[in-house]
Order: sequence, then structure tokens, then C-alpha cells
Amino acid sequence: MTSCSTIDIGNISLSGNAFLAPMAGITDAPFRTLAEKFGAAMVVSEMIASANLGTGQRDMVRKLAHSGKLPHVVQIAGNEEKWLTLGVKLAQDAGAQIIDINMGCPSKKVTNGYAGSALMRVPDRALRLIETVVEAAHVPVTVKMRLGWNDQQINAPQIAKLAESAGVQMIAVHGRTRQQFYKGTARWKPVRDVVDAVKIPVIVNGDIIDPKSARLALHQSGAAGVMIGRAAQGQPWLVGQINASLSGCRPTDTPQSDTLLAIIVEHYHAMLEAYGVDMGVRVARKHLRWYLEAADIQFSVEQRRQLLTQSAPKDTLDLIRRFITLQSASFSNSAA
Ligand SMILES: Cc1cc2nc3c(=O)[nH]c(=O)nc-3n(C[C@H](O)[C@H](O)[C@H](O)COP(=O)(O)O)c2cc1C
Repeated sequence: MTSCSTIDIGNISLSGNAFLAPMAGITDAPFRTLAEKFGAAMVVSEMIASANLGTGQRDMVRKLAHSGKLPHVVQIAGNEEKWLTLGVKLAQDAGAQIIDINMGCPSKKVTNGYAGSALMRVPDRALRLIETVVEAAHVPVTVKMRLGWNDQQINAPQIAKLAESAGVQMIAVHGRTRQQFYKGTARWKPVRDVVDAVKIPVIVNGDIIDPKSARLALHQSGAAGVMIGRAAQGQPWLVGQINASLSGCRPTDTPQSDTLLAIIVEHYHAMLEAYGVDMGVRVARKHLRWYLEAADIQFSVEQRRQLLTQSAPKDTLDLIRRFITLQSASFSNSAA
């Protein structure tokens, strides 16, 4: 067993180099807590629109919640200096230890306001906003971006250089352009141009699903670490497994039967607590579906309908318990 590799973000040292990517509506505090428990080296909050941060809405308070012992990384998005400055202040008041700037979101709602990935089309503006955030922050600032706006404008290396000159301490790059949205495959090789352009750590992201793809992404990009998003849905242990594997440590076994059930129950109760029962039940549905899909648990259209419409927590968990028990029984029968 070799010792885990570390990445420094300013004065913060992380144990390992596999991070959970921010995903709006998914990487909330309950999910991040689990990812951390299973050994992710870093987890990032869902994107928070800086203009909404000051509203004090319950949603904002929930999004700003710290999820565990790892550094509290809050991702903000915005295109106006005054809101970003306020966003940094409120995030820091909520305990943010790292502020991440979203320059990768492809959503029209975000890009039409020249935030998210649209900032990559206007490097001068992007630089001004990054400078604003760095100036307002007393904690390290990082940026998450895409390769560029489209194939004719692959400018992540230039933007990364500008960000570094402004004081940014780490860059994560999703190996797609904004015009790709989530289509096609992520390209890890062009991320090498970002790695070559700066001295700060660069993290490669996009389509990393297991230790093998993580190694290939690191090899092709020369990046210091990996960030995993969608593959962690229904598998909050995955980032920790990849982190261990990259560090030469033995990854934990993939949870099955009773262990899997215990994780799902823990996650479910955490969601009910974070959102309240009415909303929590609804938020939990997609996670429950992902758990069953990731574990390859077969369920009929009718069972799926039941699962996705059930509103009593006890009945929902009974249903999940039944699916998992049935699968375990069919495994033991086929092994006998
Ligand atoms: C549902 C969803 C929500 C996302 N929300 C965010 C977000 O809030 N901030 C962000 O920087 N990226 C966000 N992303 C992009 C991911 O962080 C990541 O860059 C992208 O999914 C590619 O990585 P993956 O192939 O490992 O999923 C989101 C992606 C998805 C699918």
C-alpha cells in the first residue's frame, strides 16, 4: 500500500486526488456527506447563483450547509461584481473554506446572463469577475470551466492562465465545449494544454466512471486529479473507491444486500431531515432509482411506478428492502 497522493489548494491539503463534481439538484449535503464518508478527497456544493444568495431563502441556507469534515467548498455563479462580492461574503459567513467559480454551466438560463460557460466567450469580463471574487475572498478560490465555448474557441488554457494570474489556486476542466452540452464524449487530451499553461493544480473531468478511466484521463491530460459527477449517482462510494485506487490503496468493496440497504436508508433519512418530509420524499426518488439501477436490480414497470409515486417513507423503504432482498435471494439461488 502506498501513501495517498495529496493536492494543495492554497493552504489546504487534501488526502488524495479524486473529487466529487458539483451537480445541481444532486450533490446536496446528504449526498456529499456520504461521498465523504466513503473517502472522496473533496466534495463541492451545488452551484449557487450569487444573486440569490442574499435572499436568505431556506433553499439557499440548505445549499450553503457544510456536509462534513472535508473543506467546505461552495460553488458560486454570477456575472455581476456586486452579487459575486456578496455571494463570497455569505458563503464565507456560512463557513466556506474554498470558493469555486462556475464557468462551465451550459444552461441557457445561466449563459444568457453571461455566467457559467458563457464567461469563456468574454475572457476580459471573466478575468474581472475572477479578480472580484479573489479580492473579496479570504479563502482560496478555484474555477471550474469547460474546454471553451465551441470547437472554434477552445480557450481554456488562456482563461486558466488569466485565472492563475488573478490568484486562483486550482482549475477543474470538463473536457467538453459548451456547444457539446453533455453530448459526445469528454476529451481529456486537450486538458493537457491547460496543465502546460499553468503551475496550479488542474483537475480533469468528464466521463470518468471507474479507476481505469480515471487513470486514462490522468495519463492523457497530465492533470493532478480527477473529478467525478454522473457516475457517482446511485454510487456515493465510487469517488472514494477511485481515490483509494489512484493512491495505491485497496478500494472498499462495492456495497451489496444488507450493506447497500443500510446506506440507502441512511441517505433517505438524511434527505428527509434536510428537506422536510414532503419535499424530501420527492427529492429522494431519483436517488432511489439510481441506487437500484447502479446495483442492476431488476424491477418491473409497475414496481418502478410504485417507487416513484410512493409518498409514505416507511412504504418506500419497505419497497426498496423487498427489491434488494429479492435480488440477494436470486443471487444465492443461482450460486447454489
Ligand atoms: C444534473 C447535473 C447538474 C450539474 N450541476 C453542476 C453545477 O452545479 N456546477 C458545475 O460546475 N457543474 C455542474 N454539472 C457538471 C458536472 O459537474 C460535470 O462537469 C459534468 O457532469 C461532467 O462530468 P461527469 O461526466 O463525471 O458527469 C452538472 C452536471 C449534471 C449532469
